Amino acid sequence: MEIKSYLNEQRQLVEAAFDQFIPMAGGEFSAHLKAMRYSLLAGGKRVRPILCLATARSIAGDTISDRNVLPIACALECIHTYSLVHDDLPAMDNDDLRRGKATNHVLYGEAGAILAGDGLLTWAFDLLSNPKYGNLDADKKLRIIHCIARAAGSFGMVGGQALDIASENTQFPFETLQTIHRCKTGALITASVLAGGIAAGANKQHLAALKTYGEQIGLAFQIVDDLLNATATTEQLGKAAGSDEELGKATYPALFGLEETRRLAKKAVKEAIHCLADFDEKASPLRLLADYIYTRSH
Ligand code: IPE
Ligand code: IPE
Ligand code: MG
Ligand code: MG
Repeated sequence: MEIKSYLNEQRQLVEAAFDQFIPMAGGEFSAHLKAMRYSLLAGGKRVRPILCLATARSIAGDTISDRNVLPIACALECIHTYSLVHDDLPAMDNDDLRRGKATNHVLYGEAGAILAGDGLLTWAFDLLSNPKYGNLDADKKLRIIHCIARAAGSFGMVGGQALDIASENTQFPFETLQTIHRCKTGALITASVLAGGIAAGANKQHLAALKTYGEQIGLAFQIVDDLLNATATTEQLGKAAGSDEELGKATYPALFGLEETRRLAKKAVKEAIHCLADFDEKASPLRLLADYIYTRSH
């Protein structure tokens, strides 16, 4: 399988599902819904929903229908997009470019962007709990909702973002850096993997392996984000390059330099792939996705 065509095909599958699962702009909330849709449909690699789908298939193959996993996959992308909209706000990283386009607050104002983020986050849980979509049993749905809520909140992404901001221009220890990366980025990536596993009925051993796989690729993902911020161009990234150094962010390159940072990212990917030793060929896309996280150029 070739990773590029696999990613294209999966991205199309996810984006087609947005039509079904994301509210159209119209009626009295039209302006707000338009702001939500703007950031969600602005592009993006769709790594989290693709990981969720790939994990479900790594366990259940074709016996799990996409219909049962796509609402979860779309909910994960809503939460991720909300985190980006808020991350870009003037009070946070103050960025005006995202996914190659103007950031949400540049177009819709700060209040509009805060509310677009709030709308995306809340819509995700509407989607996850809506009995209209898919036919997973209630127990699985509840476990998935809890896993995602925990990962998105104060002990996951939100907590990581709070530490990221608090650590700007400080002498941060390695432990703090690890916590920031594990929480702000690793938590939602791990939850994307676990949610796919739970949906597919993975057993305890498989879930434990998937958890470590998710943690390692989550760590690698943010290390590579740090690397790209330091080495790529704004054009290549579709978001501001060089901003981490400007803002005095706690990053791997700041602590270790570029060469050691690359080694650590590679090591995390290797460990992630190692976690899948007991999985058969249905997990091949998960192995390819781990490699892609290291080799990606944006
Ligand atoms: C960027 O995430 C922010 C991080 C958590 C590192 P992505 O690199 O997945 O961004 P998109 O969704 O492709 O724009
Ligand atoms: C993003 O971290 C993490 C979240 C949005 C949760 P960064 O601030 O490092 O990501 P980019 O570089 O703006 O995408
Ligand atoms: Mg940030
Ligand atoms: Mg940022």
